[in-house]
Amino acid sequence: MRWIEVDNYEQMSEQAAAVVINLVKEKPEAVIGLATGGTPAGTYKRLVDDYKQNTTSYENIKTVNLDEYVGLEKNSDQSYTYYMDQHLFDHINLKRENIHLPKAETPPYEQDAKDYEQLIEDLGGVDLQVLGIGENGHIGFNEPGTPFSSKTGVVELDPSTREANARYFENKDDVPTHAISMGISTIMKSKKIILLASGAKKAPILYNLFKTDVTEDIPASILKEHPDVTIIADSEALALLKEKEGSVNR
Ligand code: GLP
Repeated sequence: MRWIEVDNYEQMSEQAAAVVINLVKEKPEAVIGLATGGTPAGTYKRLVDDYKQNTTSYENIKTVNLDEYVGLEKNSDQSYTYYMDQHLFDHINLKRENIHLPKAETPPYEQDAKDYEQLIEDLGGVDLQVLGIGENGHIGFNEPGTPFSSKTGVVELDPSTREANARYFENKDDVPTHAISMGISTIMKSKKIILLASGAKKAPILYNLFKTDVTEDIPASILKEHPDVTIIADSEALALLKEKEGSVNR
């Protein structure tokens, strides 16, 4: 696990976008795993800017998103499908048929989850997975206690996650209780992973992640066993870790 410290959100987004753009150029038919949330929005903005300025082509790129809320309509402005369209997909030349998110709109959700796992396998696996991290250490929507062997499935959101994500909803009771999420074993099969973190709210979990042994209590800790993970985090997110451990650039 490599840790990179950057000054701020802008720099984090810049570096993450550079990793994605390099892959798109090196492997124009790559499969890229994408995340949602506040963290990667700046990265997507830079991808869009680069597409407009440098015409980096996504014509043969395929994308698979980490997760989607269960039971929201796709055109609901809180769905991750809507988020991805707004932030990225509507602005670059990615083909619609190459964009994938779990369905999760209507039952049977378990079957949708199984199909999604199969789809990722059929695509030949993920070349680069972009991850954020929950304040409780979740990756995708795999909450603390999720077995590391988990595959894509229907997951229940932790009350703290619903609370953290309530800011995107009009009413906090509107936050769905379940999602379809890539499993932890699914994420671990990605060839390369970048995990992004920004802001003071992520400082405690990054410190815990740095210090902990691999444990299902902190889902992101499994990434320590992956051969190619880079954490790109800004100074605020690394404040606690640096205070207690010194520099993280290594
Ligand atoms: C969400 C998503 C995760 C995301 C995380 C952090 O619930 N399911 O994929 O990484 O929580 O979100 P944010 O970037 O808004 O802090």
